[in-house]
Amino acid sequence: MKIEKSVRPDSQSQIWINNVIVRHLIFSDLPQLEWDGEYSHLRQVYLNAYKKRNEGKYILWVADLPKSGIIGQVFIQLNSTRKDLADGYFCAYLFAFRIKADFRNAGLGTRMLSVVETDLVKRNYGEITLNVAKTNDIAIRFYNRLGFEIIGSESGEWSFRDQNNKLQHVKEPALKMIKTINNSH
Ligand SMILES: CC(C)(COP(=O)(O)OP(=O)(O)OC[C@H]1O[C@@H](n2cnc3c(N)ncnc32)[C@H](O)[C@@H]1OP(=O)(O)O)[C@@H](O)C(=O)NCCC(=O)NCCS
Repeated sequence: MKIEKSVRPDSQSQIWINNVIVRHLIFSDLPQLEWDGEYSHLRQVYLNAYKKRNEGKYILWVADLPKSGIIGQVFIQLNSTRKDLADGYFCAYLFAFRIKADFRNAGLGTRMLSVVETDLVKRNYGEITLNVAKTNDIAIRFYNRLGFEIIGSESGEWSFRDQNNKLQHVKEPALKMIKTINNSH
């Protein structure tokens, strides 16, 4: 499948944002999550996330701009062996959140987070957790503005198989942040 490069239609105006549809990821979206090769190494991670989504363990959101394609994504893990991050009923873990560079700073990330929160409240979840790299000042400011608080540090170590099935290790010291989304618990 040939994937067209996503180009922000008109960087001077923000009319494009009104045309963005935030929806659940479908199987045919997966190649677009590779962003013209930048994230090809995460192919198996995304495929695995899609399988978990079919098992009801993950919720996968994308931002779809007609004619441009997928310009953003955010994944939610409902249950994990790390119960402090996702326990299947109260706290859910947010990860793989990214908006394509040309489409940032226009409110799309804020909108996607709002969609995530509304959905999790409907499912009766009370808290969102996430890890963000200590060096990622922009994202930390973004999450702070939207009500997340830093509650600790994480080593940020994890491993995955890349598109060539080679095991890759990541070590990215991170901050753990949480946001209460439903006080009725
Ligand atoms: C973090 C990220 C998802 C935010 O997405 P975004 O679409 O840029 O988010 P928003 O546009 O809603 O907010 C970004 C800034 O734009 C500003 N903004 C929002 N709407 C705006 C508008 N209409 N006009 C101008 N600026 C606007 C916001 O005030 C915000 O500033 P702040 O967060 O410093 O307070 C994005 O920067 C990203 O993909 N980063 C790379 C990947 C990453 O780091 N992900 C997080 C991993 S944990």
